[in-house]
Amino acid sequence: MTDKAKLDVGGKTVELPLVVGSEKEVGIDISALRQATGAITLDYGYGNTGSCESAITFLDGEEGILRYRGYPIEDLAEKSSFLEVSYLLIYGELPTPQQMKDFNRNIARHSLLHEDMKNIFQAFPPDAHPMAILGSVVCALSTYYQHGDETHEEGLNQSIYRLMGKLPTIASFAYKKSIGQPYIYPRTDLDYCTNFFHQMFAVPTEPYPVHPDIARALDVLLILHADHEQNCSTSTVRLVGSSQANLFASISAGISALWGPLHGGANQAVLEMLEAIKAGGGDVKKYVAMAKDKNSSFRLMGFGHRVYKNFDPRAKIIKAHADRVLSLLGMDDPLIHIAHELEEAALKDDYFIQRKLYPNVDFYSGIIYRALGIPQNMFTVMFAIGRLPGWIAHWKEMNRSDKNRIGRPRQIYTGSTKREYNPIHKR
Ligand code: SDX
Repeated sequence: MTDKAKLDVGGKTVELPLVVGSEKEVGIDISALRQATGAITLDYGYGNTGSCESAITFLDGEEGILRYRGYPIEDLAEKSSFLEVSYLLIYGELPTPQQMKDFNRNIARHSLLHEDMKNIFQAFPPDAHPMAILGSVVCALSTYYQHGDETHEEGLNQSIYRLMGKLPTIASFAYKKSIGQPYIYPRTDLDYCTNFFHQMFAVPTEPYPVHPDIARALDVLLILHADHEQNCSTSTVRLVGSSQANLFASISAGISALWGPLHGGANQAVLEMLEAIKAGGGDVKKYVAMAKDKNSSFRLMGFGHRVYKNFDPRAKIIKAHADRVLSLLGMDDPLIHIAHELEEAALKDDYFIQRKLYPNVDFYSGIIYRALGIPQNMFTVMFAIGRLPGWIAHWKEMNRSDKNRIGRPRQIYTGSTKREYNPIHKR
């Protein structure tokens, strides 16, 4: 393959350099395109457009491959922990024992919120969606740490510890506020996931032991959600951060993007769909037909993916994980049987086969969250807690890159051409 692409635009020819990645992906660098031809590219949803070069996560959608910093997701889910994976994503290498100890301690020591922040929770109505609370309180963190200097490593690390430590506290406070129970403060003697369950479900009047298998079940889910290259919310974090907005404000924007039902909000939408199928008598074929019907806006939530045109490797792991967690808890959730039937019906149907629509990360994750006692409207909050280290890693990679420029896409204008102003008394 030559190292240039040749393009002819209205008789003007331009040669554009090719960029080849470490996994042999090829990109056409179009930086010189507009100057050479006057033309820009147009790519709705950026399905064919790279926004950056990145060394964090590699996806191969055709082969169903996902690796964080070169490590296969299957190995990390089985052998690693969420905080170790977070360290890997953010700092680029697996931590030494001392680095892991320091990272754990720094995060634990930054898990408390400023006491005044409790007033923010009181300002929300009881039925406020926790994603709205999460995004608001994360952005508000920037008002408590206005003098952090994220241009230096130590200042950036402080913001990283604060976000990693405080996000589970913010999430659990949002839940406690919605059920009128007292906030449970973080405990630095508990590991990350055990502490989260303790903050979510303990009450001050009695001990709340967390089974280690329950904590591990969540740990695996958080590993699987930790990063996914340039997805909608990560691209949002990068775009907001490209204006040199601080890390808290950038992460808050990512939380808002994740909330959408086409993105992280899908895990909550999947459970709502499964419950609707169950309430309607379990007729999965009817829902598959609805998903195919172009006159219906219904989509099979938890199915399909912009990049994966094969099984989402995370969905495979989560599916097996769901069976394990349910049997561990001695639960038999009718919704998982409906999910299995739905998956089987869709995967046999030409509409899904031709469009290469497979279950994605959101299809089975909600079944596990439900089994772990997480309320349905908190499912996307769980996705955000998992995705936080990935957002941070991408913000840091963007912010420290000498190729970084403020993100400012172009457009093709399709509105009115020039016209004269007509005073209102003449209209
Ligand atoms: C996540 O990007 C990431 O990496 C995201 C994520 C991450 O880790 O960050 O993996 C997490 O967001 C997973 C996706 C969760 N969303 C859902 O499960 C919602 C349901 N799925 C879709 O709406 C859809 O599949 C998307 C949004 C995931 C992808 O949309 P695309 O790439 O824009 O695909 P498309 O809408 O152009 O669909 C192509 C065709 C269309 O039909 P035709 O026009 O060709 O006839 O496939 C159809 C779509 O109608 N289609 C579906 C479908 N998904 C796509 N039809 C029915 N049900 C579906 N779920």
